[in-house]
Amino acid sequence: MCSRLSIHRPCLFGCSVEWALSDRLTQPTHIHGSRSSTPPSEIGTSAGDHPLEIAQPVGADDSAFLSAGTRAASTTCASILSSPIPSKVYGSKVSTTEPGPVVNIRDARTLFPATDTSAYFNTAAVGLASQTLTAAYHRYVDEWSVSGLDYVRAEAAAETARTSVAALMGAHRSDVALIASVSAAAGLVAAQFGPARSGQNVVIGEREYSSNHFPWRLLADKGYEVRQVPFRNGGIEPEDIARHVDRGTQLVAFSGVQTASGHRSDIAAIGDLARAVGALVFVDGAQMIGALPVAADLEYIDVLATSDHKFLMNAGRGIGYCYLSPGAQDRFSPVNAGWKAGTVPFDSFFGPTMDLSSTASRFDNSISWLAAIGNEAALSVFDEFGADAIFRRNSELAGLLRTALAEIGREPIDLPVANRSTIVSVPLGDAEPAELLGKLKQEGIICSARDGNLRLAIHFYNHEDDIEQITSALTEL
Ligand SMILES: Cc1ncc(COP(=O)(O)O)c(C=O)c1O
Repeated sequence: MCSRLSIHRPCLFGCSVEWALSDRLTQPTHIHGSRSSTPPSEIGTSAGDHPLEIAQPVGADDSAFLSAGTRAASTTCASILSSPIPSKVYGSKVSTTEPGPVVNIRDARTLFPATDTSAYFNTAAVGLASQTLTAAYHRYVDEWSVSGLDYVRAEAAAETARTSVAALMGAHRSDVALIASVSAAAGLVAAQFGPARSGQNVVIGEREYSSNHFPWRLLADKGYEVRQVPFRNGGIEPEDIARHVDRGTQLVAFSGVQTASGHRSDIAAIGDLARAVGALVFVDGAQMIGALPVAADLEYIDVLATSDHKFLMNAGRGIGYCYLSPGAQDRFSPVNAGWKAGTVPFDSFFGPTMDLSSTASRFDNSISWLAAIGNEAALSVFDEFGADAIFRRNSELAGLLRTALAEIGREPIDLPVANRSTIVSVPLGDAEPAELLGKLKQEGIICSARDGNLRLAIHFYNHEDDIEQITSALTEL
């Protein structure tokens, strides 16, 4: 029987804070700043060294949009390129349908056949398939049919994908677990919480996507007070977090980018507030990873989870990625450990010893092998253009879309520049969502309605033509 962890630490206001997360959290090390265990040289080296990166002016808006990324850009891009494990296999020619390289990011749409027939603004729901992805799937399924499924190859692909997503997060791959969904990652964290003691609470957003909401609401069953922060500007503002946290707060959970409004959270400010009271910081990165630079904010985060089906561009789903700070890894117990959680998974099928991995992979779940093949291929597109160039292009297009919508009187939700993302949402007003979406679809425009907004998501495969198409369609409606 473990004893409850109870730590006193100074809070934001100088008082002593008792931190008592769970009976199972036996390592009370404060997580803040613990990424220092990752040598910078392992993450990345210099900026702008991607051969295909385009030189592009960054305007005032861009600099805020990219604020995290400009510091992180070198990390993100260079670490993909310099990562030693495993070697990249993306570029190998796998079939006659394998696409050739696309040199200019402005032509990136040529890799995505759906862009021929639609103006696609729905990446916040599901990303488009690149030809690279579909070619990899075709080849793998064909080989499966002829010679049986090559799961060893798929496991290797998952490791490549882990490396790629870690680089997009600015994390070391050894700090990233393969956990299929955001909700499963939140469930892992929630499972660490023992029965609540008096005054213990968790702080979450009132209108968060349910995968980052229900797992915390369920903590009420263990006695935690669940404090729901009302949204402002379509998201969570640090001032409101400050009003809700106190010495009993065990966790603050929020989305990096809100799904319905596109509101980008101030991760550093919220993370600081949470850390000051000793709370864990959980960030849902589903609408952020692959769309925006994140690396500079990672030090404020304990757990960062994403699925693969949006800006990581494998709508087939099946693998998710969960960054766990080294401190969180020390303190958490795996809840779904199996062979995949072993130091050498293929040597871990049978006991009698339990040799769990010393890295975040001890939190891995068994993966979809098909998804692994798909994710490796889908993520290779970040290599093709450079994550840095993709983030810049996203910023440029999102800015153009915002301006174009305002010019036709369809003002997007008014967000401060620092809170903008690749999702541009326009309040629906009296418009009936299904009818509007149907009419836009007839014009070849694909988007969604979420929580009272027409939600338009940009990814680098969009084009100025798409923006022209939607603005003229909306003008005529
Ligand atoms: C903000 C956000 N979080 C999470 C998810 C997905 O959650 P899960 O991976 O649990 O299906 C979505 C959409 O699918 C989302 O928009």
